[in-house]
Amino acid sequence: MSTTPQRITVTLNSKPVGTEQGRSVGAVLMGEGIKAWRTTRNEGKPRGLFCGIGACYDCLVTIDGQPNQRACMVEVCDSMNIEGDFDA
Ligand code: FES
Repeated sequence: MSTTPQRITVTLNSKPVGTEQGRSVGAVLMGEGIKAWRTTRNEGKPRGLFCGIGACYDCLVTIDGQPNQRACMVEVCDSMNIEGDFDA
């Protein structure tokens, strides 16, 4: 049994990024140095990971065209398209 994580490629705002299967979308974004990927509706304040356990909804992002997905709760998979308010 191999313990080596499978390498996959996702896109962050159309930029291909190599990562490992099993990581959360939030972990991949943070690993690329992206700490915020949306802004608050009223004040435009930056938001990214906060609780990291699916409770606060600060980490919402668009995944494969589906808006409002919690980045901390979704595992990346090959060819996943992740979009948000960030520069990849
Ligand atoms: S960081 Fe709180 S729900 Fe994702």
